[in-house]
Amino acid sequence: MTVERIVVIGAGTMGNGIAQTAAISGYQVTMTDVDRAALERGKAAIEKSVAKLASKGFLDENQRRAAGEIATADDIAPAADAHLVIEAATENPETKFALFGELDRVTPKDAVLATNTSSISITRIAGHTSRPDRVIGMHFFNPVPLMALLEVIRGLDTSDSTRDLAFEVGRKMSKEPVEAKDSPGFIANRILCPMINEAIFALQEGLGTAEDIDTIMKLGMSHPMGPLALADLIGLDVVLYIVEVLHRDFGDDKYRPAPLLRQMVDAGYLGRKTGKGFYEYKV
Ligand code: 3HC
Repeated sequence: MTVERIVVIGAGTMGNGIAQTAAISGYQVTMTDVDRAALERGKAAIEKSVAKLASKGFLDENQRRAAGEIATADDIAPAADAHLVIEAATENPETKFALFGELDRVTPKDAVLATNTSSISITRIAGHTSRPDRVIGMHFFNPVPLMALLEVIRGLDTSDSTRDLAFEVGRKMSKEPVEAKDSPGFIANRILCPMINEAIFALQEGLGTAEDIDTIMKLGMSHPMGPLALADLIGLDVVLYIVEVLHRDFGDDKYRPAPLLRQMVDAGYLGRKTGKGFYEYKV
């Protein structure tokens, strides 16, 4: 099957970044979200990002126009003629399971259903459909228009042709696809989130200030941003959720969440999106 029409479910940071990247890569894209305000915010984020990339000469006029032609909807009806659906809804297992059951009913039988989940088992999500061979993880990275990686995760029953399709679409979107096994956190978050969690322990234990910890990782390890600034970018609630999944699913206390991380989430300090995390931001 040749993919022409992609439906992206969810207009949040990941969803709008995926929709934008797919549209400028030549796909016909519809971005859906049950929350109309989220759709508007998603469209505004795309406009801002596209203007920035165009001002740097990274996008030509056709690509700019294509991004402006992304359709939107507040239900999943447009999935009825999609070749590929990329789900980037809230990272909540029950939400995703229900959504995949519904997508399975409304999409053409040969459509591929992909999820951008950062931590939920692809095999479990696929179990809520009648086509586990056509369900796959396509895990993008924030900010999607700039990050070069696509982590591709096969569930137990994902077919070779579905895997090949995910690689092909990823490459067309100028991403480098890398395959990871369906295990908690896959590869990226299995390594990244314990590092961020450890940086939070270091802060909590007073080993250094947030700036010191981040500077050490930036200058000593050439990371583009320190782990605490990165936690603010990802969202502290998302980091906590992933660390909890690792802790629960591996049953190993080395993944226990830093108490400070939990406290900050309880206090509503979720990072950039709330204006306060390890640093402060204008919202
Ligand atoms: N679209 C277009 N331009 C963007 C953009 C976007 N979405 N986001 C940032 N930019 C632009 C900025 O506007 C800025 O432009 P300017 O130089 O003209 O002002 C330029 O990119 C550089 O940004 P900054 O000056 O803010 O900072 P950096 O040079 O550090 O680059 C970065 C920003 C690309 C985010 C870089 O810091 C980086 O690579 N950080 C690491 C990000 C990372 O690790 N992401 C993965 C998170 S994990 C994940 O997503 C998985 C999930 O499951 C948890």
